[in-house]
Amino acid sequence: LAQLPLNRNQSLAAVGGGVVGDLGGFVAATYMRGVRYLQVPTTLLAMVDSSVGGKVAIDLDSGKNLVGAFYPPTEVLVAPEFISTLPERQVRNGMAEVWKYAFVLDMSLAQDVASGWNREVIERCIELKRSVVEEDEFDTTGRRAVLNFGHTVGHAIETALAYRDILHGEAIAIGMRLEAMIGERLGITAPGTAEAIAQALGGAGFDLENPCRDATDVLLNLMVRDKKAESRKLAFSLLTELGACKLVNDVPESVVEEVLAQA
Ligand SMILES: NC(=O)c1ccc[n+]([C@@H]2O[C@H](COP(=O)([O-])OP(=O)(O)OC[C@H]3O[C@@H](n4cnc5c(N)ncnc54)[C@H](O)[C@@H]3O)[C@@H](O)[C@H]2O)c1
Ligand SMILES: [Zn+2]
Repeated sequence: LAQLPLNRNQSLAAVGGGVVGDLGGFVAATYMRGVRYLQVPTTLLAMVDSSVGGKVAIDLDSGKNLVGAFYPPTEVLVAPEFISTLPERQVRNGMAEVWKYAFVLDMSLAQDVASGWNREVIERCIELKRSVVEEDEFDTTGRRAVLNFGHTVGHAIETALAYRDILHGEAIAIGMRLEAMIGERLGITAPGTAEAIAQALGGAGFDLENPCRDATDVLLNLMVRDKKAESRKLAFSLLTELGACKLVNDVPESVVEEVLAQA
């Protein structure tokens, strides 16, 4: 950018998936202490999730999104036409976040989601994310954390696999089932929720087997470092029932360990 040079009166456009959006936004936040930028998401995941809400970050070996900022774009331009060239696996990857909105906020979305994405599904997801972000832009009250359902376990799996072989949405699909099981074990999540999630996600083509099943200690160590965690206690966004979620700050490590070892 310095070589171009880009000056502070100009804007940057991040045209691409969530990786480009998160990186472009982080660059925009830090280059010259901040230049304006717009998000032009080209993957389903970026359209329904990462381009909205102003969280920008990059991953470090030590953990996902460890360096970043809250830095909203001036505009988000969503053109679903981009999805026509997106490989099927990447479309399913984005659908994981769509299912997340259904499980966490609005189960009426589930019927529409079962037959895949369409324009209206994208609009509803953006609207759901917008309403949550407006309530808690800087992630301080616990409200925004509900969008992290499935992500405490999911991020740990992604990091344990060095962000290779598994896509973000694939990891959080596994995480959503396991976190529902953790919630059930704690008596916070209504019984049968994990099974309902497994049915829905299995039907949508997700492989729900935990690839790190034999590395429970690695996952636990990564989760302790999760941004939501406060001093070695584990924090999870747990469903109370399908369509409702809350942040729970003091989940015992032993319960998480039991679920991870068994499922
Ligand atoms: N900032 C947030 O709030 C937030 C939310 C969710 C996820 N994320 C982040 O987003 C990232 C995942 O984003 P993603 O799923 O978009 O992955 P991605 O950016 O890696 O894109 C997936 C692949 O699709 C290709 N691609 C992009 N658009 C295409 C198109 N229209 N046609 C064909 N190929 C195309 C890309 O080159 C890439 O190979 C993760 O790093 C995740 O942490 C951020
Ligand atoms: Zn996500």
